[in-house]
Order: sequence, then structure tokens, then C-alpha cells
Amino acid sequence: MSFLSLRDVKTHFPVKKGILIQKVADVVKAVDSITLDIEQGEILGLVGESGCGKSTLSRTIMQLIPSTGGEIILEGQDLTKLKGDAVRKRRLDFQMIFQDPYASLNPRMTIFSTLAEALIQRHPDLRKDKDALTQKVSELMERVGLNPGFMKKYPHEFSGGQRQRIAIARALAPEPKLVIADEPVSALDVSIQSQILNLLLKLRDELNLTMIFITHDLSVVRYIADNIAVMYKGQLVEYGESERVFNTPEHAYTKKLLDAIPHLEEVNA
Ligand SMILES: Nc1ncnc2c1ncn2[C@@H]1O[C@H](COP(=O)(O)OP(=O)(O)OP(=O)(O)O)[C@@H](O)[C@H]1O
Ligand SMILES: [Mg+2]
Repeated sequence: MSFLSLRDVKTHFPVKKGILIQKVADVVKAVDSITLDIEQGEILGLVGESGCGKSTLSRTIMQLIPSTGGEIILEGQDLTKLKGDAVRKRRLDFQMIFQDPYASLNPRMTIFSTLAEALIQRHPDLRKDKDALTQKVSELMERVGLNPGFMKKYPHEFSGGQRQRIAIARALAPEPKLVIADEPVSALDVSIQSQILNLLLKLRDELNLTMIFITHDLSVVRYIADNIAVMYKGQLVEYGESERVFNTPEHAYTKKLLDAIPHLEEVNA
């Protein structure tokens, strides 16, 4: 059995029409019958054009929006059957990293407070033990390549790449089972992008971290992902080992995506 199994997962949004009397006129099939397995320690690249359903699929896996159908099985447990408190508890198992760390970090909180808050979510007892908390914050900062001496600083005192490291540390703090990174390097300079990608690869090796990596950038996904899933209009049109998808794409849409990558010689011309 796989670490995470998606079985025929559907997320449909009703579209209502009419002002006085609202009727469900249509449905947007944002995610439509996705079946996919993810193993522990795997990095899955999720690609596809804007609006194809990547974020909706992520939010459905995290139980932030209800699925319309199918099963989402994490370590043998179907998450779609959980209710109330059990759902809230499970959400800690899923953490996200976003494109813009400046928007996702609270500008009025020091790095210490941001990371402490995230650590306490999983271990409420740490609230009473400032020394242990400080120790854990130091360890987290070191793990993502930040100097713990900066824990009393605020987000604006860091560079973009360092802020993304803070966001990664915060995502790791609750000891998640799955990290979903939605365009985590798209806003960074190319030289910084590779540093962050290498950090994520290092964390995967050290922590056996499982990750879904969403991106428009196929060169990024080729570098970081073990397997690639290509979505088109809510459906999975291609799935396979990264190099296989790049070298011998099977679906016409994947070929189109690959043809759209600028070739190096053209960029340098
Ligand atoms: N709450 C909602 N209600 C209705 N339709 C929605 C809702 N959320 C998303 N959609 C629709 O579902 C489809 C998939 O959207 P989604 O945001 O998942 O795409 P995406 O692949 O993440 O795109 P992007 O690359 O731009 O982030 C789109 O047609 C979108 O308009
Ligand atoms: Mg999205």
C-alpha cells in the first residue's frame, strides 16, 4: 500500500445562476477523477497550465475543501471519512510553502515567534518550556541554513531567499507527513532558486520528507521531482518517472508543454 493514495478524487464546484432564485446552472470540474499514488520520501512534480486544478487538488488533499467523490488514503486511513476534530488534527500533517514568503509570513512576528507558534501546534507542552522551545527553534533554523543568532529578527530584515528558508522551517515545525509547495521558487532570482531547490532535496534525504511540488517551470520540476503528474482541465493526462516524461512524453498536451520550454541556445542568443 502506498503512503498516500488518491482514488478517483473529484472536486466539483457548482456554478449558480440567477439573482433572485439561484439555481445550480453548471459545475466546474476543477478536479475530475484523479487516481495517483505517492510514496514516502517521494517528490511529485505537479504541472499544468493555469486553472487546470493543481491548487484545488492540493486543497482537497489537505481537507481544506471537501471532495465531491473518491478516496484520499493516507497511511491506510481515508481522510474523506474524517469529521470535525479529527479533520482539524489531521491538517497538521499537511503543510504548505507558497510562492511569496513575504506575504505568508507575519511581518510583526519575529522568526522566533513564527517558528515557536508552529512548533507549539504539534507539541503544546513546549509553551511552558522556553529553553526547549528556543533549542527547537535553533535546530529548525540550522536545518534550513539560517543562523540561529537571527531568531529575534523580523521578516523584512531578511532577503527573499532567506525568507523562503524561514517559510520552509515553519512548514517543517509541525512535523508534517506531506509538504505541498505551490510555486515555491517562482518569485526568486535564478541563482537563489537552485539554493532553495537543493535545500528541499537535502531535507527530503534527511527527513524522508514527502512533497508535492507545483510549478509552471518544467526545468525546475525536472531537477527536483522523482515523478511528474501532468494535469489538464482537472484530469491527469500523463504520469511517470521524471526522465521518462521528459524524454518520451506520451500525451499531446505534455509534448506541447515541453515544446514551450525555451531552449538554452535561444535564451543565450
Ligand atoms: N471556490 C471555487 N469555486 C468555483 N470555482 C473554483 C473555485 N476554486 C477554483 N475554481 C475553479 O477551478 C479551476 C481550477 O482552479 P485552480 O486554482 O485549482 O487551478 P490551478 O491549476 O491551481 O491554477 P494556477 O496555476 O493559476 O494556480 C478553475 O477553473 C477555477 O476557476
Ligand atoms: Mg494554483
